[in-house]
Amino acid sequence: MSQFAAQRVLVTGGAGFIGSNLTDRLLAEGAFVRVLDNFSTGYRKNLAEAQKSERFELVEGDIRDRAVCDAAMEGIDYVLHQAALGSVPRSIKDPATTVGVNVFGFTNVLHSAVEHKVKRFVFASSSSVYGDEKTLPKVEERTGTALSPYAISKQSNETIALNFGTLYGIEVIGLRYFNVFGQRQDPDGAYAAVIPKFIGRMLSHEAPVINGDGSYSRDFTYIDNVVEANCLALLAGREACFKMYNVSCGSELDLKSLYGILREELSKYDPAVAELEAVYGECRAGDIPHSLGSIARAEKYLGYRVKVQVAEGLQRTCKWFYSKC
Ligand SMILES: NC(=O)c1ccc[n+]([C@@H]2O[C@H](COP(=O)([O-])OP(=O)(O)OC[C@H]3O[C@@H](n4cnc5c(N)ncnc54)[C@H](O)[C@@H]3O)[C@@H](O)[C@H]2O)c1
Repeated sequence: MSQFAAQRVLVTGGAGFIGSNLTDRLLAEGAFVRVLDNFSTGYRKNLAEAQKSERFELVEGDIRDRAVCDAAMEGIDYVLHQAALGSVPRSIKDPATTVGVNVFGFTNVLHSAVEHKVKRFVFASSSSVYGDEKTLPKVEERTGTALSPYAISKQSNETIALNFGTLYGIEVIGLRYFNVFGQRQDPDGAYAAVIPKFIGRMLSHEAPVINGDGSYSRDFTYIDNVVEANCLALLAGREACFKMYNVSCGSELDLKSLYGILREELSKYDPAVAELEAVYGECRAGDIPHSLGSIARAEKYLGYRVKVQVAEGLQRTCKWFYSKC
């Protein structure tokens, strides 16, 4: 029987891309899952499968509202905190809202978890905390100066979590996700991530816009690896707690190559995509040129292994988006 059977897990942001994938996995493992979400960037359709389960519950509300957090925390064993406003550009345009949700909201959820004696609090941090630190691969103990309000919000989450671990004894683990991609990621809107945005445009026969000259690279991480890392973080021994972990594939892919792979994959389903040529635009403020995460610490303490490499993840993702268009 799965170690999650009969465990009660709260997934904040469970209607979002990562949270809904976590929810489905935990339900499949026999857990009781409660989602807390205000649907600001998440979707009801992401919970369509989950809602068929008797072990699923939805609390609709805002993490900035403490009473909502307390109601959602009732009877919970573990928290996977995903709710946040993502996107560096969004945070530069409207820093107060990003900081309000990502820092004040985070503190509400964490303090509620303390008061409800939750066994462990695992939360979504981000590779953005590395800021201007240039060493590659990024290792957890060397962060730089944050380059955006979003990055500051994630750095604050880590500081607050460690402080609450010391003050109140709650077991905390932060997972620094690196450019996650896969099924259910939102392809629309000004703040869409690069992979779903490119796929969405290409399937509409529009040329994708590459910011910069295409040499910027990222450690793109397929969603199943992130789901696995969260499950491992819930189950790991206490020596794994009070630390931050990179969750990545440990490999780099530049944007020009990414575009080439997506074009090749998508043209298997839609031959017209093969004719599309990318357009090159300005670099975006707050973007770092290269990002590559060392997974040595996650391997050591969490037993993390890359389950799905980038190439296979991109194939699966293209197939999924094509099936939805
Ligand atoms: N996707 C990535 O590549 C990536 C990389 C690094 C970190 N992260 C972090 O992972 C987490 C999940 O990201 P995602 O890509 O699934 O984003 P997402 O936007 O798909 O999901 C976030 C969810 O949080 C919910 N939410 C936002 N504000 C809320 C509030 N005030 N109250 C309640 N719910 C609220 C949204 O409605 C949404 O369902 C976030 O914390 C994000 O910062 C993501």
